[in-house]
Amino acid sequence: MKEINVGLIGFGTVGTGVAKLLLGNSDHIAAKLGARLVLKKIADLDTTTDRGVALEPGVLTADINEILDNPHIEVVIELIGGYEPAKTFVLRAIAAGKHVVTANKALLALHGDEIYSRAAEAGVEVLYEAAVGGGIPVLSAIKGNMAANRFATILGILNGTCNYILTRMTKEGSDFAAVLKDAQQLGYAEADPTFDIEGIDTAHKLALLLSLCFGTKVVFKDIYTEGITAISALDIAFARQLGYGIKLLAIGKLDGDRIEARVHPTMIPVNYPMADVDGAFNAIRLTGDFIGPVMFYGRGAGMEATASAVVGDVMDIARNRVAGIGSRVPARGMLESAVKELKIKPMGEIVCRYYIRFSAVDQPGVLAAIAGALGRNNISIESMIQTGRSGDYVPIVIITHEAAERDVTAALAEIDGLEMIREKSKLIRIEDNLE
Ligand code: HSE
Repeated sequence: MKEINVGLIGFGTVGTGVAKLLLGNSDHIAAKLGARLVLKKIADLDTTTDRGVALEPGVLTADINEILDNPHIEVVIELIGGYEPAKTFVLRAIAAGKHVVTANKALLALHGDEIYSRAAEAGVEVLYEAAVGGGIPVLSAIKGNMAANRFATILGILNGTCNYILTRMTKEGSDFAAVLKDAQQLGYAEADPTFDIEGIDTAHKLALLLSLCFGTKVVFKDIYTEGITAISALDIAFARQLGYGIKLLAIGKLDGDRIEARVHPTMIPVNYPMADVDGAFNAIRLTGDFIGPVMFYGRGAGMEATASAVVGDVMDIARNRVAGIGSRVPARGMLESAVKELKIKPMGEIVCRYYIRFSAVDQPGVLAAIAGALGRNNISIESMIQTGRSGDYVPIVIITHEAAERDVTAALAEIDGLEMIREKSKLIRIEDNLE
């Protein structure tokens, strides 16, 4: 049986899962491929920690060149994450004519343009299913069976750590910091959890989805990104009272020759399927012009699920090797020459409904002042909740009708400057008009 040699860079959580899957399901994979995947080398600076994987002597090395300079290795799996040295290793692998599988969303979101064009020139494949949604095969579906569609919207719960934290905060009223620690222990969080909780990891994944769904390059820094660190138990409780759940959503919409691209905590109606996506699970909801709405759901993080997507990509490449053909599908699912450069719409132009929570002194004239500032800025109030005093202030929650973000920002600047307002007002965008 034909053998296809694979080199793995990075023997951390996901790398260990990949080694376990390649070795443990070796016969099963061979029966599906008609070829055997051989894990020839694993490169990692730590060659001593026991990962619970029985490797042949000489497989684990601290020398990256044993993979990149090895002419017998056809497929390189990059799982070290981060920008450097991952970028150098990936470009070296491509230059050496090796196919690349990576889970590195940060690298591709910022340097994908260069990596994809080098891969196209070299005639090799770059596959990155594990970079978005862990084990969920959404990128393969966009590039594959759904490829004929024009996509209009992307909604995603793309970060297992944030979703796990928000779920526990909602169900148990737990404290943010304690739950983050659990997420890290479960292996969901990035090495630097700031990327998770500040929404950056979600924005990286959104950049890849935007690129694939809308056939465009994406200027990563133009994606509006807001994390979950300011979400409080009080806002979660008010959201429930109003019939909403709070999720960190990635939102992408095609609007003429521009795109909306934003990541922020979002209130969605509790009866939306996405509101039931709990724990480290992820979901991606796309709308295509022929398929209509379609939703993918599964484990978005963790050793085994992510390994499943990585090995699936390796098998995809191996199938082409077995058939004796080169790359069939470009990295962005579209010829590089056809990829567009759509601009991201400024946030001020976004229109949606808003939840705003004010913390005000309980005295006559407060509501009139708030309503006046909203009215002067073209913002119409849909409903309002005022509960009892909490300490020396009273929370006032207002749900607006659809308003432009520019107007909301101006109104809040005015209101937050009032003496009767105790702390910066909280704003959460609402998404409840799904087609
Ligand atoms: N840190 C990521 C998450 C892992 O929490 O979803 C998967 O990319």
